Amino acid sequence: MHKPLPDRAEQKRLAAEAAVGQVADGMIVGIGTGSTAAYAIAALGRRVGEGLRVTGVATSLATAAAARAAGIAIVDLAPIDRIDLCIDGVDEIDAGLRAIKGAGGAMLREKIVAAAADRMIAIADETKRVGQLGRKPVPVEVLPMAQAFVVREIARLGGDATVRCDPAGTAVRSDQGNIIIDAAFGAIADPAALATALSTVPGILGHGLFLVEIDTLYLGTADGVVTVD
Ligand code: 5RP
Repeated sequence: MHKPLPDRAEQKRLAAEAAVGQVADGMIVGIGTGSTAAYAIAALGRRVGEGLRVTGVATSLATAAAARAAGIAIVDLAPIDRIDLCIDGVDEIDAGLRAIKGAGGAMLREKIVAAAADRMIAIADETKRVGQLGRKPVPVEVLPMAQAFVVREIARLGGDATVRCDPAGTAVRSDQGNIIIDAAFGAIADPAALATALSTVPGILGHGLFLVEIDTLYLGTADGVVTVD
């Protein structure tokens, strides 16, 4: 009898476990946020249970809680200037390892942890692979007082801005207490120019375009994990 092909959840798990296989004893590990990262937390927790010594830096409060529950020691990033390896999910990623992140609203902390890391491995199932970035909106974290101004600036840049709300209609707050605006641009012809433009808008504290941070992609596919460097 044939083994069933990996479904989407299985692809996430396989990619996450391949990435956790790159963690060496003594490393400081940046731990991502989301459902794919949750598989990495479980796998890393198992390795810690087997004796691996790691220090984790979490990209969100939810990840910190899940990692601690899995037995992983989590420390604050504030006194740490260098992380060995960051493992995190993506919302979409192109052939040049440029990605959009932040569907979980954690892209500000995720960007800092990724930038502090010597190496970042993105983990994803094959639905995340795109020919051109922009199928999904670019999430931006915004100081609440700047909401209307940032909406106007996103429109000036050609985007369609939506303040992220929960089902009750209340604006979602980031771990830092800021609002999230999802900025839809459609196919992004020049991601670097857009990243620069977003970064220069006062009130935008961070955005979900990750254009230079990712070194390696572990992509779960129906045929197993494909590595893209
Ligand atoms: C959170 C993120 C996540 O990594 C991204 O949304 C992918 O999540 P998932 O693995 O659940 O698809 O950027 O801010």
